[in-house]
Amino acid sequence: MSSIVLVLNGPNLNRLGTREPEIYGSTTFAQLTDLCVAQGLAHGLQADVRQTNDEAELIGWLHEAADKNLPVVLNPAAFTHYSYAVRDACAMLTAPLIEVHLSNPASREEFRHNSVISGVATGTIAGFGVDSYRMAIEQIARITG
Ligand code: DQA
Repeated sequence: MSSIVLVLNGPNLNRLGTREPEIYGSTTFAQLTDLCVAQGLAHGLQADVRQTNDEAELIGWLHEAADKNLPVVLNPAAFTHYSYAVRDACAMLTAPLIEVHLSNPASREEFRHNSVISGVATGTIAGFGVDSYRMAIEQIARITG
């Protein structure tokens, strides 16, 4: 049985494909899910890909990851910039956490320049579109393998 990696996605990422494609690309969330599952399989990992627009649900999934000692790839979306609650949940994780972004928030509006998550992440990958996820899953396999 292969190891599990949770790939968690925050608000508005269910709209990928049609949401500001000039920034986030044309890959839909369903396609992103397939791509993460394929990348997981290629590296001996079972990617469990989830998305929510609800902060409480995201925090619940992070608690699950902490309880089960699961590695996490997390795109916190807008929560990145202000959710101390998501950060505190991330701080409880016991396995590696990689923060990912499709765009490069550092090159965008000023409010996106700060991540409250980065300080409790193992590392951050941003600016490579869906390849940010591919790289993150590969790194999870390397770190946990
Ligand atoms: C994002 C960047 C965030 O600033 C934004 O709020 C998102 C997506 C990204 O993947 O580039 O929703 O996390």
